[in-house]
Amino acid sequence: MMRQVKTLGLLGTGVIGGGWAARALHFGIDVVAADVKPEMEAWIRGAVRNAEGALARLTFAPLPRKGTLSFTTDLAAMARQADFIQENIPEQLELKQRVLADVSQHAAPDVVIASSTSGLMPSDLQRDMRAPERLLVGHPFNPVYLLPLVELVGGSKTSEEALAAAGHFYTAIGMHPLRVRREIPGHLTDRLQEALWREILHLVNDGIASTGELDASIIYGPGLRWAGMGTNLIYHLAGGETGMRHMLRQFGPCLKWPWTKLEAPELTEELIDRMVEGTQAQAGGRSIRELERLRDDYLVAIQQVLRQFNIGAGATLRTVEERLYAENAAGAEDASVGGRQRMETHVRPEWVDYNGHMTDSRYLQVFGDATDVLFRSVGVDDAYRASGRAMYTVESHVTHGAEAKALEPLYVLTRVLGVDDKRVHLFHALHRRRDQVLVATGEQMYLHVDSRAGKAAVMAAAVRDKLDRLRATQASLAPPKQVGRHVAMSGS
Ligand SMILES: NC(=O)c1ccc[n+]([C@@H]2O[C@H](COP(=O)([O-])OP(=O)(O)OC[C@H]3O[C@@H](n4cnc5c(N)ncnc54)[C@H](O)[C@@H]3O)[C@@H](O)[C@H]2O)c1
Repeated sequence: MMRQVKTLGLLGTGVIGGGWAARALHFGIDVVAADVKPEMEAWIRGAVRNAEGALARLTFAPLPRKGTLSFTTDLAAMARQADFIQENIPEQLELKQRVLADVSQHAAPDVVIASSTSGLMPSDLQRDMRAPERLLVGHPFNPVYLLPLVELVGGSKTSEEALAAAGHFYTAIGMHPLRVRREIPGHLTDRLQEALWREILHLVNDGIASTGELDASIIYGPGLRWAGMGTNLIYHLAGGETGMRHMLRQFGPCLKWPWTKLEAPELTEELIDRMVEGTQAQAGGRSIRELERLRDDYLVAIQQVLRQFNIGAGATLRTVEERLYAENAAGAEDASVGGRQRMETHVRPEWVDYNGHMTDSRYLQVFGDATDVLFRSVGVDDAYRASGRAMYTVESHVTHGAEAKALEPLYVLTRVLGVDDKRVHLFHALHRRRDQVLVATGEQMYLHVDSRAGKAAVMAAAVRDKLDRLRATQASLAPPKQVGRHVAMSGS
């Protein structure tokens, strides 16, 4: 049995190690980062900070508390603490073999060790390791904290159990593990990326196009299609009614023409200069950091759009969010107090306004999450919504009593004040955990609707019954004094 991952150990904390750290911490995993160079500590902390802004905008689903990051130059100490190790040292076979063999002596045999290698084969990497069956390739893509793809490749000694455990862990941190059936140099994606890059180098070398023109040939066309459907499905559509079969008949023969070149061109100084000058012109004076921010912002936006269509990386995001909401609901049920539901949360740093306090709109978000938890517990979940029934908010009233600062732990107590066939009247009280002070209240009316017909409808008897029972268990509590208030100035 492979273990549950609470601590991720990182071996090598450069570009890729930093990306793994940011993703894992965001999903509540502690990280022990190890690198031979002590100066990499400052680097990885900076990389995590840089990633935070985009990660924070990726989803509003209730996330677990962030993990904590520690750094060491003692690789063995890292290996002893980790439940899962991700290796990200330079792409040199002998170096990786030596370091993996060494680290495997210090990590318990049920700790999976995954390599981020872009193209080396797992059978070669596991050669000198202790318990080599736990070694596999988990190949991510830059920026690791925003791109969900991770290629999973086993070597000749890799166990099915290790591959399954890795797939489970990567899914838990919001990724899409893609099992590669057989190890080959370059796995799948880098083979495809390299084919494109080789052609680019030829076209630049032959003086046919600049780097900017070649990028334009992708971003205004195929690039837009690729995010939702890959080359194969897109070509299937391009073939008309008979799809791929027609497409291959029509364009298949061109594949035999010398459209493309298989061998990469010689990397002459002149070609290198052309590539560098071309990309510098494209950057137009913008720094790498600036371009990274732009890239991260649109990667977040694209995934949020794809989520609406439930395809590609958007489907991955949706699955993660479903799980986060469900876990949040399960945690709250365990903790229900005095018949009221209790939901734990904290002020995420991006929720804070210019005064350093939680901003207005986030109160509704927190109350919305608490409502979601309550409705799930009475059976209004995804399956219920898929059947064409839902609860719509028809009225909200928020009162504010005290401040909540960034990272402040909070909890919401939710009561069911009233229920009938079509309506649910809820009351939320948001408290600070450190002193129990009431920070805000939210009173809300929900209407049960037939979402296909677009009008109010009687809720399922089982849901009504559970809500009635909740209300009955809370009946002895005094009515909250904020209930029924409206906004007014005395005398107005
Ligand atoms: N950069 C990418 O886009 C990308 C994408 C996917 C996978 N990868 C793979 O990830 C791995 C790392 O790539 P990178 O771009 O992060 O490299 P990098 O050069 O940015 O980082 C490598 C780090 O490893 C450290 N290191 C060197 N020897 C070490 C040792 N013996 N023990 C511990 N740490 C050591 C270095 O100090 C450095 O911090 C490579 O295998 C690469 O193929 C890279």
